[in-house]
Amino acid sequence: MTWGIDMRRLCLTIAVTALGAAPAFGDEITRGKELASRWCVGCHVIAPNTPGGDVGPPFPAVAAEPYQSETALKAWLADPHPPMPDLNLSAPEFDALAAYIMSLKPTD
Ligand code: HEC
Repeated sequence: MTWGIDMRRLCLTIAVTALGAAPAFGDEITRGKELASRWCVGCHVIAPNTPGGDVGPPFPAVAAEPYQSETALKAWLADPHPPMPDLNLSAPEFDALAAYIMSLKPTD
């Protein structure tokens, strides 16, 4: 049954092509979301219309602030001020979280 094998190879080719074409920061956003759902959700709402803590501001609102940027978010995460705790995250984790939060920024 070559048909089955060919179809599988075709699907694989399409999948690999799609992955290869995806911008690298897509992975970073996914990773940032994973980190946020582990470390931040207890105090922040981390995505629109999802449950989360209300100790800190919701991430969609954080992203929507007009002056907001990845640089500003990374600076905040590297040196947060009370009452937010210093979570001792690494630089790649800041990058991923900042990319994720900025991905929530409304486009219009
Ligand atoms: C123990 C509760 C707590 C946890 C856990 C927490 N935060 Fe916060 N966060 C806060 C509070 C409270 C504030 C508001 C601080 C202020 O207003 O000065 C805040 C503020 C922020 C801000 C600044 C928002 C702004 O207006 O610019 C960012 C960004 C942020 N948090 C990101 C995160 C990320 C990312 C995580 C997970 C890695 C996280 N927080 C985990 C409590 C928390």
